[in-house]
Amino acid sequence: MKKKIVITIDGWSSCGKSTLAKQMAKALGYVYVDSGAMYRAITLYFLRHHIDWTDTTEVNTGLKNIVLQFHRNEKSGQSEIFLNGENVEYVIRDLVIAEKVSDVATIKEVRTFAVAEQQKMGKKKGIVMDGRDIGTTVFPDAALKIFMTADISVRVERRFKEMFEKNPNITIEEVKNNLEMRDYIDSNREVSPLRKAPDAIIIDNTNISMEQQLKFALELLKAICS
Ligand code: DC
Repeated sequence: MKKKIVITIDGWSSCGKSTLAKQMAKALGYVYVDSGAMYRAITLYFLRHHIDWTDTTEVNTGLKNIVLQFHRNEKSGQSEIFLNGENVEYVIRDLVIAEKVSDVATIKEVRTFAVAEQQKMGKKKGIVMDGRDIGTTVFPDAALKIFMTADISVRVERRFKEMFEKNPNITIEEVKNNLEMRDYIDSNREVSPLRKAPDAIIIDNTNISMEQQLKFALELLKAICS
């Protein structure tokens, strides 16, 4: 497939968007961008610098001092996010960030900043980006849009396993409450709420394997590129 396109993957928290996005980017030789990592890194900056994000002036000043970049980790082959030159890929996955990120992501100025950065990254195409508003707001003209979903119990279990490795004190209830809260805030906010784009194709991966979801997504791609 010679023609490079933009692929968007949106959906609920912890339903496997990044797994599919990484698989597709690898299979196609595309760049993978985790847009959620950008909102997480901004949240980390706001927390570290005690930015009152209910105050627009403080938010704007904070955003002016933020530089976000993705670099490929040569060892793992994965793309990692840097905040003002510091690799924050791991620290942004903490529950402390997960508890605040949806609030920060509701702020209009934050979204304008992140969306502009994301659109720059997609200029050359050949990109897979996952998030909540990628097919609706960031790349409304993307050639392939996927909307992912999975049962809440499966999503909680997956996220719990991931978080338990780093923090054995975490409970299933904490993970479930956090996922439900983020789903609620993400889909009810005023600016770019989580929605399925009308032309997005749904993948429900409650009962399918990672291999099956990749196969399905690549078949979709073949169909639109042929
Ligand atoms: O994908 P994630 O769980 O790392 O995303 C973290 C938060 O960032 C999520 O709760 C909502 C927000 N987000 C967003 O509002 N828009 C995006 N395009 C990506 C993430």
